[in-house]
This record gives sequence, C-alpha cells and structure tokens, in this order.
Amino acid sequence: MATETTKGNIKDASLAAEGVRRIEWAAREMPVVRLIRDRFLKEKPLAGLIMATCLHVTSETANLVIAMRDGGAEVVLCASNPLSTQDSVAAALVGEYGIATYAINGEDNETYYKHLNSALDHKPNITMDDGADLVAALHSTRTDMLDGIVGGTEETTTGVIRLNSLAAEGKLRYPIIAVNDADTKHFFDNRYGTGQSTLDGITRATNVLWAGKTVVVAGYGWCGKGVAMRAKGMGANVVVTEINPVRALEAAMDGHRVMSMLEASSIGDIFITLTGGMKAVSRPHIEVMKDGAIMANSGHFNVEIEIEALEEMADGKQEVRPMVDEYLMQDGRKLYLLGEGRLINLAAAEGHPSAVMDMSFANQALCAEYMAQTAHTLEKKVYAVPTDIDQEIGALKLRAMGITIDTLTTEQQKYLDSWDVGT
Ligand code: ADE
Repeated sequence: MATETTKGNIKDASLAAEGVRRIEWAAREMPVVRLIRDRFLKEKPLAGLIMATCLHVTSETANLVIAMRDGGAEVVLCASNPLSTQDSVAAALVGEYGIATYAINGEDNETYYKHLNSALDHKPNITMDDGADLVAALHSTRTDMLDGIVGGTEETTTGVIRLNSLAAEGKLRYPIIAVNDADTKHFFDNRYGTGQSTLDGITRATNVLWAGKTVVVAGYGWCGKGVAMRAKGMGANVVVTEINPVRALEAAMDGHRVMSMLEASSIGDIFITLTGGMKAVSRPHIEVMKDGAIMANSGHFNVEIEIEALEEMADGKQEVRPMVDEYLMQDGRKLYLLGEGRLINLAAAEGHPSAVMDMSFANQALCAEYMAQTAHTLEKKVYAVPTDIDQEIGALKLRAMGITIDTLTTEQQKYLDSWDVGT
C-alpha cells in the first residue's frame, strides 16, 4: 500500500532500512560527490533555495540529493520515469534523510504527473530534470510557478534536445545548464554507463547469451557507441543503424556492420534503440523480424519502438517473465518486448553503476551551486557546463582513482603558446 505523507508519496515506509543500506553502498563508489558534500556542509552554498528534482529515484540520486540538502537547499524529488524508482531508496529518503519524495515503482501515467506536480507545489527556485518534464510542465500547465524560478539543469541528451527546441522557438523562460554535454558526463555516463547497464538490464530480464547473437543497435551517439562496444566485447555480431552519415561512418570504422533498419530487421536477434527520437523500430521493421526476436529500448522515452503497431499486429500477448512480454503475431511468430519499451537499464537493472553517476551528479551539484551564484546574470538560454567545473571533476575523479598525470614544464607550455617555433 502506498504511504502518502506531507513528505511525499512512496510505496512502503517500512523499506527505509534497506534503502539506507543501498544508499551507503552506492556512496562507496561516489567519492567526488562525497567531497562536494563535505564542502557543501561547511559552506552551505544552496542555503535558502528550494530545489525541485525530477530524476530516476536510485541510490545514486539519493547521494546527490543528500549532498544538496547538506548544501542548505530544501530538496524535493519526483521520479523521472515510472519504472525506475527503487522503492526502498524512496522510503529512506523520506524516513531517514528528510527529503520529500514522490515516486512509486510501476506508477501509472496519471500518478507520474501527479507526483511531478506535487514537486512543483513546493514552489521551487531551481529545477533539476532528467528528460525536461519539469521544464515542460512549467512552460505549459504550471506557468503559475515560473515567477519563483531562477534557473535549472538538465541531465540527459533527450532533455537537452527538448530544451534546445524550446529555446529555438524563443519560448524558454529561464536559464538552464545542459549537464549532459559536459565531457565528464557524456563521455563516461552515456558511453560506459549505458553500455554496461543496458546489457545488464537485458541479461537480467532474459538471461540471453550474447556470444554469437546479431545485435542491432539503433543510434550511434555516445549511448549507442557504448552499447555496441560492450555487445561486441561479449561476442555479439553488432549491426548499427544511423541517420547521421558521419556517425554511420564512425560505426563502420569502429568495425561494426552498418545498414538500414529495414535490412537489419530480418537478421537481428536483439534490437536495442538509443536514438533519442521516435519509431526507430516501427511497423515495416516488425513485419520482417525473425521469430524469437527481442526488442529493448535504452533511450529516454518509450517512443523509440512503435509499441502501438506491435499491439495491433499481434493476436495476443502474455508476460512470460518479469519485464518480458511475448507478442503472438498473426503469422505465428513470437516477438518479445522488454520492460514495456521503457529504458531497460533502469527498468530491469539498476541503471548506471555508482562510479559513473559520481561524475554526472558531481556536475549536477556543482552546476546547482553555479546557478545559485550566477543565475541573475544569465539569459534565458541553454548554457554549457563551465569548463573549470568539468576539469575539476575530471581531476577529482582521477585523484579518487589513485591516478596521477603529468603537467607541462614551463618550456613545454611556452612552446605550445608560441607560433614562431617550427621544425
Ligand atoms: N540514469 C542512468 N543510471 C542512473 C542511476 N543509476 N541513477 C540515476 N540516474 C540514472
């Protein structure tokens, strides 16, 4: 039974102790967030601010929101996806850490938006999104809350795409930092995080052997690159589909086969979408898929596989394992959809490992601080993460990993700064 309190809406308050153990386990692998939290405790850079955060409610997110709470903010958290919430973590945040949390794993769409609106009811000054749903609400149904907002941050590629569209139409009403675009975010989280956690989710849901399978990866952005690399490492034959010629070339030169989705559809055993767009796998592709083909999405929204077409084309469906729906097609084929087409790494596994979220969430915490200090000087635009924040996180992570690197000598620096020294 859901527990509804003034501090949020969660599934079961009695799960709090388990949640604390999970949060502390994740913290072991998040030294950079820990360092930031220690400084925040002393300096209180977020004092007086109310922050609405719409993120996956995981043990890694918990470490971020606790750090920001210790920085002096009143933090409220709602889920950024109906299937990614770790209910024990949500219970711990409410019961042990005093952070209002609105999130229940498996919530329907209506509850999802109710939770998002409950977070906005706290009258935030700063928004922190993973997918831009808070921003979308503030620019459509909740414009009443815009006056108090000074700035925001965005975690993911899909969210940044939405924000850029809003800004291009001249409609963005407050400055937002695109955390996703920091080097210490997408080079690592999108590539190594999505690469590992996507295969983890599909493996946990199906127990498939990757070796020898033909795996079709739709989209060769940083997430697609990571998934293709890891699938290849597991012995799969990787096929990449792309709409961007340069990325398609990159995939070919990285050693993958590149072809159209229609061509790939009849040979693929496992299809994984990571395009950020919609209908990467649609009716004509489903029509020619092999009996037994598995489809999973690891892009932000559940629109990359045309589920409506699959439903229409099938005679019936049944859940054959948790997270695995079997569709019986009219011609007798059986096709499998994982996690209702929602991001499989969070629906069927635990999302990216803590060590990689450490860098993503260090960016979030430092960008929240930057917003608190500078929002009044910023325009209503989408901003890049300041380079010094990115570099600082890289340096801190290296230090935490026990890696030392070289620095330039004065002579080397002088050479790089000059134009007149040639051969
Ligand atoms: N996005 C991807 N993996 C995540 C995780 N473990 N926690 C929060 N957000 C995520």
